[in-house]
Amino acid sequence: MSRVNLFIKKPVSAAPHVDAGEPVEGSLHGETTLKRVLTARQLILLGVGAVIGAGIFVLTGQAAAVHAGPAITISFILAGVACALAGLCYAEFAALLPVSGSAYSYSYATLGEFIAWFIGWNLVLEYLFAVSTVAVGWSGYFNSLLHSIGEVAGGSLGLPEAFASAPFSVIDGQLIATGAIINLPAVIIILGICALCVRGMSQSAFVNGIIVTIKVTVILLFVAFSLQYVDTSNWVPYIPAAEGPGRFGWDGIVRGASVVFFAYIGFDAVSTAAQEAKNPQRDMPIGILGSLVACTVLYIVVAAVLTGMLPYELLGTAKPVSTALEAYPNLLWLKTVVEIGAIAGLSSVILVMMIGQTRIFYTMSRDGLIGRMFGQVHPRYQTPHKGTIFVGLVAGTLAGLLPIGVLGDLVSMGTLLAFATVCIGVLVLRKTRPDLPRAFRVPFAGIICPLGAIICLWLFSRAFKDNWHWMTTWILVGFVIYFGYGYRHSALRNKISA
Ligand code: ALA
Repeated sequence: MSRVNLFIKKPVSAAPHVDAGEPVEGSLHGETTLKRVLTARQLILLGVGAVIGAGIFVLTGQAAAVHAGPAITISFILAGVACALAGLCYAEFAALLPVSGSAYSYSYATLGEFIAWFIGWNLVLEYLFAVSTVAVGWSGYFNSLLHSIGEVAGGSLGLPEAFASAPFSVIDGQLIATGAIINLPAVIIILGICALCVRGMSQSAFVNGIIVTIKVTVILLFVAFSLQYVDTSNWVPYIPAAEGPGRFGWDGIVRGASVVFFAYIGFDAVSTAAQEAKNPQRDMPIGILGSLVACTVLYIVVAAVLTGMLPYELLGTAKPVSTALEAYPNLLWLKTVVEIGAIAGLSSVILVMMIGQTRIFYTMSRDGLIGRMFGQVHPRYQTPHKGTIFVGLVAGTLAGLLPIGVLGDLVSMGTLLAFATVCIGVLVLRKTRPDLPRAFRVPFAGIICPLGAIICLWLFSRAFKDNWHWMTTWILVGFVIYFGYGYRHSALRNKISA
């Protein structure tokens, strides 16, 4: 009987330089594969597309009102630093191993198959659940815009509650019926974006570019027109006195950072497009770090303006940017513009996170750890069409039925585990394969990598305390699938034992 080895590692070799249009791995056997079409600019836009969404348009106000006060800007800097440390590590890996599997593939090469599976399974929390979570937020903004338009037109345009909210809610761990039927807008936006993702990567990147332009323009308009209404007395006291654990003071700032961490999620999705980048060695670091820097600057400026416009206590609404604008009659025209920007912003998050999930499944399938259907590529569109349709259906069902908001913490937890693993992986590969030519190197890796891993695991442990039962169940289900299917079908294991 062969020895059980859960930690077999995928051999790493430096990726050869590739050019636009060149086919990628797998094509030697005449299979249809993904296509290299993305430029550095498109990669940055993908990153910004995935990052700016519910975090800034929804969470900032609540985090300021409940946790950090005006010092929410410090929370954004703290979360930004944690992401920058992980971002540097992603950049090194993505340039060295330009494949679609992101943290899953990096773990396979450095920490072995079992950890790789564990991370891949957690990435489902990050990507697939983010699609559902953000679609529910999208539905709220969309319905509110319909109501606003209806009011202006003197009629009623918004959907009735029964068709715009979840039929189930979770209260004290119990699933209860709410009386609603389905969150229809959330389902429709997911299915629409799913169709776009099946159609092609170039088309998806093109639409993403338009959406990102709209949302960044809206944010810049907000900042430009609202700046004159900033009253610096609203920033005093900058750090309100502590009122208990996680409420103001320095502890509140840290808790605020763990909440607004959600706002940064998505920059790593750029790495899932590595296999479709024209020049991954050069452009991956540009795409990952460029989008991260752009979003960090925007976030800090928006947070400063918001807390300057209104006392922080008043910002704890589901739409803090609109709330701040409502206080200034001269700015009411901007409210509808912001709502359109939020709808655009949330759409691109759904789009890029869906692309990310399907590419991770694609890679896991090619490795034999999940079913073959996820690795099949459409002969004409050159996208993993079956996996995309699967992700669209599952995410659409979750978004249509569940109050996915409660799962926001799970999205962050899955992401934090992946970030920590990537930080550790960089160090491991530096030790095991110092010879590999690295197009991008994390500076001061001996400090940056462990620090990144520690901060991410620390933020994870804070969220785990409140959600351990959900997280443990998720992990156990993952183990059942791995030992029931993945372990036996692993292409690497079967090759070694052949
Ligand atoms: N960062 C993304 C958002 O804020 C997930 O919506």
